Amino acid sequence: MLKKITTQDGSCSFYDSVIKETYHSKNGALTESLHVYISKGLDYWINLNQKLELCKVFEMGFGTGLNAVLTKRFSEVNKKIISYSSIEKFPLSFDQIKTVSLKDLSPNENKILNSLWNEIHEISPFFKIHKIHDDFFNIINKDFYDVIFYDPFAYHAQPYMWSEKALKISTNLLKKNGVWVSYCAKGEVRRILERLGLCVERISGPPGKREMLRAIKN
Ligand SMILES: C[S@@+](CC[C@H](N)C(=O)[O-])C[C@H]1O[C@@H](n2cnc3c(N)ncnc32)[C@H](O)[C@@H]1O
Repeated sequence: MLKKITTQDGSCSFYDSVIKETYHSKNGALTESLHVYISKGLDYWINLNQKLELCKVFEMGFGTGLNAVLTKRFSEVNKKIISYSSIEKFPLSFDQIKTVSLKDLSPNENKILNSLWNEIHEISPFFKIHKIHDDFFNIINKDFYDVIFYDPFAYHAQPYMWSEKALKISTNLLKKNGVWVSYCAKGEVRRILERLGLCVERISGPPGKREMLRAIKN
């Protein structure tokens, strides 16, 4: 059962009463997404790879599509071509998403939220999206993406999404020098990423979280 919530920065999200977890931080859904995924993940990679024309992003957990919309905006402001793939096991309907989405969405941004699953959609000259309706554990790709947005529900709600098995699937998707980011700062997750051979940093988190994790594939 999903309940709409308004977070500290005025942006909205959902609380899932079955797993007792929110889709975003109560301290600010928009602020969290901009900080963790856009600034510390995507912008970080772009700055390190300014000569590369294309950035391939993979998101674990499409949810409300907030990260996807913010990435599309980033691509246009920075004139970077971004190919965005996002997997979701339990897609929300467009009507559900509309109740919590940003209020100033353009028609193209609504298309991100409303487009059919399992097809590639050219949203703008800079941004295309492939929304994959599937279980993350069915992924078999390797070495494919520059940036991973790892955004499952938190550890207490979905501990298996933070297991070595899951983290290995997600980091296998990264190309060499690719960047993996998540809001999570848990020591156990950091140690697993290190065991998997990534170079892991604890960096400043969004409001309400002292730290988050960023990992680079060597
Ligand atoms: C924290 S929310 C993601 C929020 C989202 N990134 C956004 O911008 O709104 C976690 C999402 O992961 C999805 N999810 C959980 N387990 C999954 C799995 N095994 N495979 C694919 N998606 C999964 C959930 O259904 C939920 O939509």
